[in-house]
Amino acid sequence: MSLQIIPSISAMQQLAEQVRLEGKRIALVPTMGYLHAGHASLIARARSLADVVVVSIFVNPTQFAPNEDFARYPRDLEHDKKIAEGAGADIIFNPTVEEMYPAGFSTTIDPGDVAQRFEGKFRPTHFRGVTTVVAKLFNITKPHIALFGQKDVQQAFIVKKMVRELNFDIQIEIAPVVRENDGLAMSSRNTYLSKDERERATALFKSLEHARKRILEGEKNLELLQLEMKKIIEASNPAQIDYIAFIHPDTFEELHSLETQDIIIALAVRYGATRLIDTFHIHQPALL
Ligand code: PAJ
Repeated sequence: MSLQIIPSISAMQQLAEQVRLEGKRIALVPTMGYLHAGHASLIARARSLADVVVVSIFVNPTQFAPNEDFARYPRDLEHDKKIAEGAGADIIFNPTVEEMYPAGFSTTIDPGDVAQRFEGKFRPTHFRGVTTVVAKLFNITKPHIALFGQKDVQQAFIVKKMVRELNFDIQIEIAPVVRENDGLAMSSRNTYLSKDERERATALFKSLEHARKRILEGEKNLELLQLEMKKIIEASNPAQIDYIAFIHPDTFEELHSLETQDIIIALAVRYGATRLIDTFHIHQPALL
């Protein structure tokens, strides 16, 4: 199957239905485009799990607040076609905003409390936009399996919760964070960084590595660890540290003591006007 570009919802639904009637499995990789090696890893994994791989490319306006970067979010379909095809995609679904949100559109999916924590404190309407568009993408592309990145760890948690609670018959796979050689998590937003900011931003990975090392050595004082991470990041002269949080992987509640074998550390930091997020999932079997 050579790469097909489908901007129409009804054409995408018809094709997905036909593929299903042939008894084939569909995998969906939802993206906002400007694809990089992180997206490519999800597409390659999808290729190994299904017969037909759909990549959606849609910069979803409803997950951006009015003061955020929707208008300047990078877009380059020709570049994306190459990356998607190279990684094994069969179909790119790239609707317009009008196709996805016709005049008068008003239905949303409210993910509840979990959407108000961590990222939600700084982006209170973000996850409602994500759940709504992801549900639409599921109904349009009819996947058996959908793949998301651990990099957006709260998004992955919320999507899995939505799928479970609303009984979408879709398997969700979460793939590890793909990084640059110096540890910076790949992100379409990295293109906003100046050369100097790009170098300073490696402090995020360094602070997470530091925390991992200290936890594996047996440190249990999370307040102390948070302070140490903060120091490492502050030394890189960020514009703002939004949060550094220790999180229970099953409930996504903030952890104040190391009471679980698995712990998620998530953070959001701004360099200039660019907001970056990163995360580690740490497994400490010696704890219990
Ligand atoms: P986007 O930021 O384009 O990311 C698309 C998918 O790629 C997400 O599941 C994200 O977690 C994953 N991803 C991004 N950077 C990654 C990296 N360095 N390593 C591994 N995976 C990575 O996330 C979104 O778009 C949107 O919110 C979306 C789910 C498409 C809804 O609009």
